[in-house]
Amino acid sequence: MRILSGIQPTGDLHLGNYFGAVANWAGLQEVHDCYFCVVDLHAMTMPYNPEVLRQATMSMVFDLFACGVDPEKAVVFIQSLVPEHTELAWILNCLCPFGDLERMTQFKDKREQVNDKDVETYVSTGLFTYPVLQAADILVYRAEGVPVGKDQQQHLELCREIARRFNTRLGALFPEPQPLWSEAPKIMSLADPTKKMSKSLGPKHYISIYDEPKTIRKKVMSAVTDSGEGGVSPGVENLLLLLRVSGAADTADTMLEGHSRGQLRYSDLKAAVAEALIGLTTRFRERRDALRAAGGDIDERIRASTSKARKVARETLARARDLAGLPPRLRED
Ligand code: TRP
Repeated sequence: MRILSGIQPTGDLHLGNYFGAVANWAGLQEVHDCYFCVVDLHAMTMPYNPEVLRQATMSMVFDLFACGVDPEKAVVFIQSLVPEHTELAWILNCLCPFGDLERMTQFKDKREQVNDKDVETYVSTGLFTYPVLQAADILVYRAEGVPVGKDQQQHLELCREIARRFNTRLGALFPEPQPLWSEAPKIMSLADPTKKMSKSLGPKHYISIYDEPKTIRKKVMSAVTDSGEGGVSPGVENLLLLLRVSGAADTADTMLEGHSRGQLRYSDLKAAVAEALIGLTTRFRERRDALRAAGGDIDERIRASTSKARKVARETLARARDLAGLPPRLRED
């Protein structure tokens, strides 16, 4: 099956992002024809700093490689380097009713979070039409499957709708992509387990994919565990989840059993979590170091991957342009 997914360039990856999407990608590339892109154009839909964006985009590609997304197995590329995405997005914009975009909850939420005086800065047409560009990302590869979290359900449905509309109005071209719900475990902050793990909360709250063993032990050992109430507190729940997703599900079960008998020492749980995470992240640091040692190779890999992506995207665009009544391209660049 051909699969496409995208990730925003957020700066250094933490384990929340890793388990949320990237871990899944590394598995999918073993079985499917995968296209994974860093969506720098989507990152422009909120106010941003150009230098920070450029940096974050390159480091996201690098981090994906370090996490085991393998450019030999999947096509890993940068969205803006394949201009066919935006070209198709225009055609799709012209097929997408304004009202459908007005109903997107992600847009409505963002719109509502902004007070009236900031609307001009924060609520751009790009933000409004974000889901159409996302549909183009998918359809330009005629992808059949899209691994995403449930938060993207409405965007996926819109994409299917747009594909159907193109096919009926202009001619059959696009498969209707199926969502592949990634069972994205929601990793919470270590210092405040009622909030989602995020960099913006501060360094105590998250674990970076490159954190050293010493740092990981320190952060995990000082994780908040009790809420003062009975049962499994959010902090303990989060630690058990971290154990499960890092491949120590059996240990998690044993610990949970111990907990229900009132025999679990939180220090044992934390030690087990720290060791599991260190085992996992050691591979990331090793790959990072190998990639750094290989030097200029990264640009070369991105170039090779991008040209594979472009080849497919160009073919789709040639057919889409034709069906949409646009003249054929004069010359391939
Ligand atoms: N909107 C997605 C997110 O925020 C990112 C994204 C952009 C994406 N284009 C995509 C995901 C295409 C899947 C397919 O997570």
